Amino acid sequence: MLLDFDTSLLNYGAITFSQYGSNQSVIKVQFTMDSLSLFFALAAAFSAYFLWFYLLARDLSGPKLWPFVGSLPDLIKNRNRFHDWIAANLRATGGSATYQTCIIPFPFLARKEGFYTVTCHPKNIEHILRIRFDNYPKGPKWQTAFHDLLGQGIFNSDGETWLMQRKTAALEFTTRTLRQAMARWVNRTIKNRLWCILNKAAKENISVDLQELLLRLTFDNICGLTFGKDPETLSPELPENPFAIAFDTATEATMHRILYPGIIWRTQKILSIGAEKRLKKSLQVVENYMNDAVAARKENPSDDLLSRFMKKLDADGNPIPIHVLQRIALNFVLAGRDTSSVALSWFFWLVMNHPHVEDKIVKEISTVLKETRGDDQQKWVDEALDFDEADRLVYLKAALAETLRLYPSVPQDFKYAVSDDILPDGTFIPAGSTVTYSIYSVGRMKTIWGEDCMEFKPERWLSVQGDRFEPPKDGYKFVAFNAGPRTCLGKDLAYLQMKSVAAAVLLRYRLSLVPGHLVEQKMSLTLFLKNGLHVFLQPRKLQTPEVATKA
Ligand code: HEM
Repeated sequence: MLLDFDTSLLNYGAITFSQYGSNQSVIKVQFTMDSLSLFFALAAAFSAYFLWFYLLARDLSGPKLWPFVGSLPDLIKNRNRFHDWIAANLRATGGSATYQTCIIPFPFLARKEGFYTVTCHPKNIEHILRIRFDNYPKGPKWQTAFHDLLGQGIFNSDGETWLMQRKTAALEFTTRTLRQAMARWVNRTIKNRLWCILNKAAKENISVDLQELLLRLTFDNICGLTFGKDPETLSPELPENPFAIAFDTATEATMHRILYPGIIWRTQKILSIGAEKRLKKSLQVVENYMNDAVAARKENPSDDLLSRFMKKLDADGNPIPIHVLQRIALNFVLAGRDTSSVALSWFFWLVMNHPHVEDKIVKEISTVLKETRGDDQQKWVDEALDFDEADRLVYLKAALAETLRLYPSVPQDFKYAVSDDILPDGTFIPAGSTVTYSIYSVGRMKTIWGEDCMEFKPERWLSVQGDRFEPPKDGYKFVAFNAGPRTCLGKDLAYLQMKSVAAAVLLRYRLSLVPGHLVEQKMSLTLFLKNGLHVFLQPRKLQTPEVATKA
């Protein structure tokens, strides 16, 4: 039995062994077959991918495109000089000034999600901003990202919703009373606060971060203009203001939504973590502040934008609901807050580096003030400019426009292509893709602004006699204030504000950069100076215009 058992065991073992052996070879054969087919499948997939990639890359003219990661490596490498990198890419295309690139090079996604057409060609920009305006809205990505902060306000809407607000706002922005209100807010801030801070710094020979002061000044001005309440963030002690901080935090968190893939912020929002957590908290503060502002204006209307919108009726003849009024007001605050302060910061930096331009500006202001206020120079610096005086400063306006040509506050803007289109230079735009126009590059192309395009030359904005401000005949060569139906509504107010501040500073002080201070661009949707603008101030000895002419 035992033997039998053993034999059977042996047999069993032998049978099992031989079966195992044959199974193994079957598995081996099968494995070899499987790996072969896997190999062939992969090889076929890779070949198909690389053929597809070759065909995609062949049509694209931008920076080097890599399989699977597209132009991301170059983008990451150049993240600290993003605008100059785009300008260099555009220059490399020769006269066409347009290129296309892809950051998600995968079939079905490439032509929509990760596909960018970048241009600075004036004819293309005109096509996008005016001729085919309806085909290039802000689009779903932008609107979704900004929705929590700006709702359906003018800055963040398209179609009928945008048009209704645009019409109403455009009427208000042309009124003289709004200009007067702006002049009043600006002059008050200059006289009561900016001069105090600068005088103290000059007297004690301590440096100031001019950009920080200007950001506070324009924030106060735009709040005054929008809801009639100046939060006085520009004060000698530079106080922290909860609304200003909350608004900054909310804007920054919203920028993250634009700059990083949607999946990141959506997940953060669901989990209420990171930037999304900060956004939620700060929106609450903003909301409370706006509630108070609306309630105050309801009780006591004034000439601010909020009071003006409160008097309007919507399409059905009803007053505009409070939550909509709040969003409308917030849109104006966002549109008008940092743009003029960063432009002024670059302006002061350029002027410091171009003393002959500085001399001409001071001479022009002195000439106008001598005529309007007489020979007593004390009177020139006692009060900020009134807006008739500001209107006469042609050379100063040219210097500001020249600053915006080289350092536009909004360096690039994005549009979404609703349907397939062809740009005037022949570039095909696939539906659902993004079109970026680089405002920064427009001003830095020899083909557009000539051989001397990199030089700071306010004279290029003057008539032959030098007595009139003359913008380029082709309006799409200068798009710092946008162009077409969505042109900046605050352009004239911004020039008024910038002229007043520029004159208020330059007439009293000479500026010099703090030794070793590094002036660099911050890579953001607004062209801030990354490290601020740290300057010393020396009181200026004014000359009468005649003496200045002889010198
Ligand atoms: C140097 C200062 C300024 C610059 C460079 C500037 C530039 C721009 C640009 C590029 C746009 C288009 C943005 C886009 O559609 O994505 C814009 C729109 C707008 N700006 Fe300005 N801006 C300045 C000052 C102001 C000020 C002070 C105000 C308000 C008082 C203002 C109000 C607006 C409004 C309401 C829009 C939206 C127009 C629309 O979508 O129909 N801006 N601005």
